[in-house]
Amino acid sequence: MVSTVIPVQPFDLVIFGATGDLAHRKILPSLYRRLSVHQMPQEARIIGAARSKMSRAEFRKSVQGALEEFVEPGDLSKERVEAFLATLDYVTIDAAGDGGWAQLARKLDEKPDHIRAFYLSVAPSLFGTIAGRLTEAGITTPSSRIVVEKPLGQDLASARALNAQLSRHFGEHQIYRIDHYLGKETVQNLMAIRFANALFEPLWNSRYVEHVQITVAETVGVAGRGAYYDGSGAMRDMVQNHIMQLLCLTAMEPPAKFDPDAVRDEKLKVIRALDPLMISDTVRGQYRANGKDGSYLDHVGNPASRTESFVAIRAHVSNWRWAGTPFYLRTGKKLAARLSEIVVTFKHPPHTIFPQVEAQKGNALIIRLQPDEGITMRVTIKEPGPGGMRLVEVPLDMTFADALGEEGAMPEAYERLIMDVIRGDQTLFMRGDEVEAAWAWTDPIIQFWKESGSRPLAYDSGGAGPIEAYKLTSADGHLWREIVA
Ligand code: BG6
Repeated sequence: MVSTVIPVQPFDLVIFGATGDLAHRKILPSLYRRLSVHQMPQEARIIGAARSKMSRAEFRKSVQGALEEFVEPGDLSKERVEAFLATLDYVTIDAAGDGGWAQLARKLDEKPDHIRAFYLSVAPSLFGTIAGRLTEAGITTPSSRIVVEKPLGQDLASARALNAQLSRHFGEHQIYRIDHYLGKETVQNLMAIRFANALFEPLWNSRYVEHVQITVAETVGVAGRGAYYDGSGAMRDMVQNHIMQLLCLTAMEPPAKFDPDAVRDEKLKVIRALDPLMISDTVRGQYRANGKDGSYLDHVGNPASRTESFVAIRAHVSNWRWAGTPFYLRTGKKLAARLSEIVVTFKHPPHTIFPQVEAQKGNALIIRLQPDEGITMRVTIKEPGPGGMRLVEVPLDMTFADALGEEGAMPEAYERLIMDVIRGDQTLFMRGDEVEAAWAWTDPIIQFWKESGSRPLAYDSGGAGPIEAYKLTSADGHLWREIVA
């Protein structure tokens, strides 16, 4: 099977914060890979913009270093690296000051027919300032795009303020809010599985689905990013964005077409249909020390911290399709494995002619986002051999890499998302009202935790979070799936 690469139109991508971690780790390596497969045209220009005084040659050198560090050695070739470095340019700009804007305007005016995109890989406190400077300096055109990324606010009020700042200078159709989970191949596959197959949709409702589990487990802790994380916590860092997006794609109605607003309207309806979160439907935790590896409190350097590194939630989508089917959500650091999956567990058959089936777990569709992206269907079959009718559960397993061979290699989420920005396709980006609705759902619980002065429950590193999280599922007669890679 040969995948089709459709080149995008020539573009100028200005990266604010081009010398920072995200640019080096993700944005620039992703662009390099897109150039390697001839999706990014050679005439495209990537213009780094940052405060450091640097020549174009110095910028190229620093990007070369980033490619050597963050691109798989097998994907690096001298010729392609040189071709990529040739697309790079640099302007020294102090976002809050006057210097550099006129120079940037001149550079962009050299190629009036290029698509213009501005990637703000900087602190959100600078979004409004940069958006304003770009318009004041006459740099933006009606078709220019601006790209921003989380944290998109700390709560509903700050998210609204951020949206208002951006919309003062850009129309909603120009604003690309990245949630990198939406760029993951298997997350997009969730839509393909649901809406390109007749098999699942008739069963995709509370009549047939017993419960849904969404788990994003990580083995890493927060050491090294304690300052950011302690002011955020798992609810803001993972639930309000990534997990909510997974929930929306799992629970939404089929959109009338695969177009940005049709898809985003349906996702928004899911968020609005969520019952307000009850405190009794949430469990939060903080990881303990593990031998020499410190605890959460050590890692953030704040012994009094009440910020959660784990959260589990029982959610209910109160609409015709999902009334009565619980959605269990959980995410945490320092858990047993790095694993992201969505598990849709189906009800038992209404009548069984095999009494043994009672002991079975029921059919489940397991959509693995990482690692080993793929889909598994758990089915019950007869155990081979004579000696009566014994039933066993077996997986019908499809790991994409096995099924698709080389073409199954999953591109980095940012590769897809940046190319979508250039193509002008907002389907996989969050709309302002979605972000606000998600905050409106998580805010009351975060507020309650803060005001109650309660502490997160301690949990052991390498496990599945606080034992109390099991009560959320067991109260309904269900079990969390084990966290194993
Ligand atoms: C980021 C969070 O958005 O997503 C991190 O800030 C988290 O805390 C990361 O580790 C997880 O992303 P991925 O792609 O590694 O699952």
